[in-house]
Amino acid sequence: MLERLLPRLSIDPADHQAGALDPLTLFDSNIRAVWLEIGFGAGEHLSAMARANPDIGFIGCEPFINGVARLLRDVDQHGLDNVRIVMDDARLLLDCLAAASIGRAFLLFPDPWPKRRHNKRRFVGPENIAAMTHVLVEGGQWRIATDHMDYCRWILAQMCPAPQFQWLARRPGDWRIGPAGWPGTRYEEKGVRAGRPSVFLNFERLPRKQPTD
Ligand SMILES: C[S@@+](CC[C@H](N)C(=O)[O-])C[C@H]1O[C@@H](n2cnc3c(N)ncnc32)[C@H](O)[C@@H]1O
Repeated sequence: MLERLLPRLSIDPADHQAGALDPLTLFDSNIRAVWLEIGFGAGEHLSAMARANPDIGFIGCEPFINGVARLLRDVDQHGLDNVRIVMDDARLLLDCLAAASIGRAFLLFPDPWPKRRHNKRRFVGPENIAAMTHVLVEGGQWRIATDHMDYCRWILAQMCPAPQFQWLARRPGDWRIGPAGWPGTRYEEKGVRAGRPSVFLNFERLPRKQPTD
């Protein structure tokens, strides 16, 4: 399946110039917006979202080959034609994407890098926040979930001062419960079994004040 489907569905960032890729061109004409999942693991969230939203194109980034194979099995089983895959570091894709070209992005249970000296490797940091600021449409959302409370605090400390994003939580329950239609992920289940509740942080890309903002 890997040999049959991957060449058709995979995107190689090396084929695209920096900042020039309009992701809508990767899909059929019925697709009205493109959503991105960074580090999809075994792909259960991406597959469920793609089934529930046939008019949305999904790009999933995951360098882990077993995870890609599992997602491809779902794509094949459900006949999904709105999924594309980058089997590599998501940052390579972010570099290629045109400004304001992604409607929603998901970063679900990212590696927490718990040791203090490794904290800098966490995906949520100044460079990737700048990249997400660039690629998200105004009003687009970046949804982040974690079961690691230190990473949760880190994410809020990085994202809340970012002037182009607004944290959408209004009440405590807003970050304790997954968004409507949340299909869950393997890592979320693992955390629940280990007694670690998940946190769901939803950030909105605010309007651009200037074209370069
Ligand atoms: C802890 S797992 C979570 C997987 C999945 N999101 C879930 O909730 O079940 C983190 C995943 O992110 C992937 N990953 C880490 N850094 C990445 C990056 N820069 N780009 C794309 N994927 C990445 C890893 O390969 C791994 O599969």
